[in-house]
Amino acid sequence: MSARKKLVAGNWKMHGSRAANAELLGGILQAGPFGADVAVCVPAPYLGEVGITLAGSAVAWGAQDCSAHEQGAYTGDVSVSMLSEFGCRYVIVGHSERRAYHGETDQQVADKAKIALGKGITPIVCVGETLAQREAGQTEEVVKRQLSVVIHTLGQCIGEIVVAYEPVWAIGTGKTASPEQAQEVHALLRAQLRAASQRADGMRLLYGGSVKPDNAATLFGQPDIDGGLIGGAALKAADFVAVCRAAG
Ligand code: 13P
Repeated sequence: MSARKKLVAGNWKMHGSRAANAELLGGILQAGPFGADVAVCVPAPYLGEVGITLAGSAVAWGAQDCSAHEQGAYTGDVSVSMLSEFGCRYVIVGHSERRAYHGETDQQVADKAKIALGKGITPIVCVGETLAQREAGQTEEVVKRQLSVVIHTLGQCIGEIVVAYEPVWAIGTGKTASPEQAQEVHALLRAQLRAASQRADGMRLLYGGSVKPDNAATLFGQPDIDGGLIGGAALKAADFVAVCRAAG
């Protein structure tokens, strides 16, 4: 099928404590190494500590958001320079929770992806339709619009990002997209990327939305699904490890 190495990234969202993080990371480190690339995207206050815990291990770490600005009067925001100073490898941008609760636009998401790449941090750019959009037959239009702004903003650098398809209706609901539904959208996104970049076939497209140990292998077995962005199942070492193993 493809030579793409799979990537499994945990998105802890606003969960964790120093004690819980230590236990979770301990469990993941003990279970590794994995055949897939593995990362955890953690809340901002824990970035430094998690970075120290994971230093020298095969598990990478990332942030869940970054500012689209270099620096300045942006109270509460975190810059990519700050992240890179600690060795941050990935940053999730455009998660549907940030689009919904913080009003992030497609252009702001694209600007965040661009500034992250400029610091050598790989953006994991999230796209996905709501239930209403899917039911209205707008899935293709929505995800293509979200991705097209990123393609336009990044130009040839588009080949350096990771894309995560996360149907909003599947996030935290236990309603996973079927492998066929997910593959269909991944194939559309891959085709859109091919039209923009010769590197599209080497790019990793992750699926996110209620990925669990019992459905991960079938999802990851689809030709254009190159791993997952994991929410709830990333919070328990046994579950996350099982999902990582399902990726190879
Ligand atoms: P769940 O795995 O909890 O559905 O969350 C998915 C997600 O939003 C990952 O970014």
